[in-house]
Amino acid sequence: MQLLERLRSRTAVIGIVGMGYVGIPLALRFSEVGFRIVGFDIDADRVGMLNAGKSPIRHIPSADVAAMVERGFEATGDFGRASEVDAIVICVPTPLSKHREPDLSFIVRTMETLEPHLRENQLISLESTTYPGTTREVLKPYIERRGLRIGENCFLVYSPEREDPGNTEFTTRTIPKVVGGITAACRAAGEALYGAAVDRVVPVSSPEAAELTKLLENIQRAVNIGLVNEMKMIADKMGIDIYEVVEAASTKPFGFTPYYPGPGLGGHCIPIDPFYLTWKAREYGLSTHFIELSGEINRDMPGWVVGKIAAALNDCGKSLRNSRILALGIAYKRDVDDMRESPSVIVMELLRERGALVEYSDPNVPVFPKMREHHFDLKSVDLTPEALASYDCVVLLTDHSGFDYDLILKHAPLIVDTRGKYRQANGKVVKA
Ligand SMILES: NC(=O)c1ccc[n+]([C@@H]2O[C@H](COP(=O)([O-])OP(=O)(O)OC[C@H]3O[C@@H](n4cnc5c(N)ncnc54)[C@H](O)[C@@H]3O)[C@@H](O)[C@H]2O)c1
Repeated sequence: MQLLERLRSRTAVIGIVGMGYVGIPLALRFSEVGFRIVGFDIDADRVGMLNAGKSPIRHIPSADVAAMVERGFEATGDFGRASEVDAIVICVPTPLSKHREPDLSFIVRTMETLEPHLRENQLISLESTTYPGTTREVLKPYIERRGLRIGENCFLVYSPEREDPGNTEFTTRTIPKVVGGITAACRAAGEALYGAAVDRVVPVSSPEAAELTKLLENIQRAVNIGLVNEMKMIADKMGIDIYEVVEAASTKPFGFTPYYPGPGLGGHCIPIDPFYLTWKAREYGLSTHFIELSGEINRDMPGWVVGKIAAALNDCGKSLRNSRILALGIAYKRDVDDMRESPSVIVMELLRERGALVEYSDPNVPVFPKMREHHFDLKSVDLTPEALASYDCVVLLTDHSGFDYDLILKHAPLIVDTRGKYRQANGKVVKA
């Protein structure tokens, strides 16, 4: 097959649709191994930045993007150029709607725009996280409407992305890639595409199996984080340090995987993806009990943290109203600049609702970004001894490695720690 030959010889051109957290690292890796890449995005500013060799994402160095441009990479908003590429890899967002239902509008819009430009001998791979059935039920009809025959002169696969932003232990190359195709020929094309760029490809029998694999991975995390958050609240009432317990349990050499508690779930994946399955399961008359229950516990966490702050202030003879509170870390997890679904923002909002005067410090987020549902007109506070001493309470929400924890401990009058950073007993630290 001409496509397989072009993939194996790396003369194929690869189009990546959606140049974000997922699309850019993939483009970098395919470019590194010798493919020419065209990056498609509807965000004109992003297209301009990428073509100028600049990275729009903090943890991806601009030098890497510049090197990719040197190797012939181009970003574009012109989807007509999709006919130039041999493989189209789709990495557009899959959020939830207001009613916590799958919002596939980005995928649908992508397919509508691509449809007139699809041609024979192309491979289309969906990477966006979604419910089982999306590739077959949503993508396939667009391709067939073009008169293409899937498995014969056009190939369709689902291959979930497993990118973990900020994780330096694994790279796009070393994270195995699961691939499921509509037909065996589709799967073979998918294996040829990803096999050229990653160390290990894991073929599965269908796109649905690949779609559910990704959901299982994220649901496992969401459920276990919910469990450990519940354990934290129980341990707290019993006067036991949950971190000590998780650490001790982790010494069991088999059968235990540590998960850590925190102020709630954040990011584009873990709080959202499980509900894709909940929605689809309803079609089969099924409930997803574990997902719902862990979702409930995780969503309650910011409120629990605020309760801890209120109690800690109360013990100092102060109320939340009019207290000056500094939130440390507003990105959703350590050492990233991503604010999506960040529980820190919910904590800040709950504090503000109760009359507290809230500010924040985050070395990765210098200005509070414009968000759809949350509005704070704030800039990150520099952590000087004077600044720290001026607050009634400092709440550690995201434990960035850039924070000077000794300085914070020395100068903040009261610390509420949601990340287990201050383990030694200290009169001014409250664990939450
Ligand atoms: N961020 C992660 O760590 C991660 C990990 C695994 C899986 N995923 C999944 O990957 C998918 C993409 O997530 P992301 O974090 O990269 O999103 P992102 O918001 O960082 O990037 C998406 C990009 O797609 C562009 N885009 C939107 N609609 C488009 C369209 N119609 N055509 C072309 N471009 C369009 C946006 O402008 C943006 O640049 C989601 O389904 C997500 O669940 C994300």
